[in-house]
Parts: sequence; C-alpha cells; structure tokens
Amino acid sequence: MTFLAQALKIKDQTIAWRRDLHRHPELGFKEVRTAQIVADELTRLGMDVTTGVGKTGVVGMLLGAAETPVLLLRFDMDALRIQEETGAVYASQNPGVMHACGHDAHTAVGLSVARLLAARRESLPGTIKFVFQPAEELDGGAAHMIADGVLTKPTPDYVMGMHVWNERPVGWYGLTPGPSMAGADIFTVRVSGKGGHGAQPHITRDPILAVAHIVTALQSIVSRNVNPLDSAVVSVTQLESGTANNIIPQEAVFTGTLRSFKPEVGALIKDRFYTLIETIAGAMGCQAEIDFIKVTEPVINDPRLAALMGQVAAAVDPGAKVDTAFQTMGGEDFSLMMQTIPGCFMMVGSANPERGLDYGHHHPKFDIDEACLPYAVAILAQGAVEVLESGR
Ligand code: NI
Repeated sequence: MTFLAQALKIKDQTIAWRRDLHRHPELGFKEVRTAQIVADELTRLGMDVTTGVGKTGVVGMLLGAAETPVLLLRFDMDALRIQEETGAVYASQNPGVMHACGHDAHTAVGLSVARLLAARRESLPGTIKFVFQPAEELDGGAAHMIADGVLTKPTPDYVMGMHVWNERPVGWYGLTPGPSMAGADIFTVRVSGKGGHGAQPHITRDPILAVAHIVTALQSIVSRNVNPLDSAVVSVTQLESGTANNIIPQEAVFTGTLRSFKPEVGALIKDRFYTLIETIAGAMGCQAEIDFIKVTEPVINDPRLAALMGQVAAAVDPGAKVDTAFQTMGGEDFSLMMQTIPGCFMMVGSANPERGLDYGHHHPKFDIDEACLPYAVAILAQGAVEVLESGR
C-alpha cells in the first residue's frame, strides 16, 4: 500500500487530532496537554520518548533497520494569543488563545507520519528523530531544544520540517532551493530626553520629536541603503510615550522587526539602524538605548533535499503544483536547526477560497482546508524514506 493510500486511510484520525488540538490551544512553553498527547502516542508506537526537551518539547526516536543515517523531523505545537472568530465547530475553548498559524495541523501531521513510519520500521533505512517543538511563535522554542541537546546524541544528518501555507491553495507545495524565509531581528528602543511643561519646550529635550524623526529616517534604510535587487523589511510596530496633553515626557519607546534573506544585507541594515538612531537621538539632545535580539536566521533549503522533496511531492500527489521560486519575509525558528545540518522546510498549500478558508496566518478567522493533511503526511513519510535511502 502506498503512503498516500495509508495516509488517506488514517485521514479521520489526523483530522481528529488536529481538531482536538485546535479546541485546546496552548501558548508557547505551556504546551502541557499537547505534549502529553504527543508523548503518549509516540510511546504507544514503541518509540523511545523524551519529554521536557526545551521546556515542553517532546522527542521520539524511531530506530529502523539501520542506525544511520539519522533524519530529524520537526513539528511545532504552540498557539497564539488571539481570540478565535472562525465560528468553527472545533473552535478554541481556551479564551484568548488560538491556533491561528496551523501548528495544530503540524502536530497532527507529525503524529500521523510517526504512525506510518513506525509501521514500517523493519524496512526503514535509518533512524528518525521525531521532534515536537514548543514556542515557535515566541522565537525561543528551537533555541531551547538545541540548548537541551536535540541536535546531539545522535546528531542528525538531515533535518526536515513543514508549514501549512494559507496564501496558496491545497495542492501547492513550496520547495525552493536556497533562501525561502527571511531571518528576523526584533528590537526595543528607549529614547530618553528631559521632560517638562508642554508650554515650555525650550527647557526640555523632547523624546517624542526625536522618535518621530528616527522612525521616519529608518524607512530610508531599505529605500536608500539596501541594493534594490535584494529584499529587506524595516518595520516599527509599536510606539509609546506620554501621559497628558500638557506634559513633554521623559521617555519614548518603540519596538519592531528587521527582516532579510542574506547575512550581508542583515549586517548592513543593523549597522544603519544603530547609526541613524544614535546620531538622530544625539542631535536632538536625547539618548537612545537599543535592545536588539536576533530571533531567527534565514531558512535556506539544501538544494539537493529541496529537489528530492519536489520529486516526492509530484509523485505522491498527482495534482501537485511544486513551486521552486517561493519566498516569504516571514520567519521560522526551524532555521536554527538548519544552520549546520542540510535541511528542507516544505510549505504546504492549505487554502480553499471557495469555502472561505483563506484568511492569512495570525488572523482571528484563520482556518485551513484539512484536505491538504493526508498529502502532507504521505509526502513527508515518503520523503523521509527517500532522504534516508539517499544518504546511505
Ligand atoms: Ni507558524
């Protein structure tokens, strides 16, 4: 029986898992119930299971007919702080928390892939490390799992992961060789001046005016410094200051994110970012304190693995549309697991505009067409076997 036939046979179970997780979403590092479901199922399949990896992560080792090569398959489990508005029968029962990015689907797909591959363990040409990761959205989950040794004992030869993608219909697969998702930095900037009476600006140092100039000037980085043939984003997304209409405040704070695909572009943006903020704040008589955090590296798919997975997708799904030019400025902390190990991150089209299932990720009405799930399961299971075979 083909993996697709098997995946279609257990489709109801995959959907049941996804809907159960959707009803009971949990925020990053709080995936206690989710992790328990995962650990129970992997244990039931006869795997050697470790819980509490990177706080709430779960790792299951599936030993096949050979010890090596080792393939790591990663699925994320966390939800978002959003009040769901889908009205679905399986809508979130946890107020203010929602699976609005599809990580419920990823966990369900991971459990189904585990089930299919565990049933074939005697003929599996290597070892598969099933990794269920917490807190992708908080951009700390992958780093925490790595700090807890998920990439050691044994060190994987390959890493693979997936994400449902609601900007493309079911049947579409994003498998771009090279850079496909952006690296992301986040920042908080605190500009302090000298507060005072709104009617006596001349004896103050107004941080609001300084920040207004800074936010405007930051938009010159992409338009004036980055090569127009490269891509980058500079977004200020939060700005806070002041308490009343007759007080010039002491301080103004803004936060945001920087994104790019190439390390050299990332370095250029960061350099210009610091220079503009420090010099403009200084010129306005204020001081800037910059808190800068690198949260993800760009997702750069190994060309050989991306090509292999593209062939697998086309072979498994007769209606597959494999896109090898897809790129998004969205970030993914799976990139941290791909830094030193060849990897492939597959995007799986999950939208169905006719059924209204095409709201974007992180929208309160986000929902997917579950028809994509058995295909994702079959492609990952088949892909896992072929990647292991190719590495023998
Ligand atoms: Ni996501």
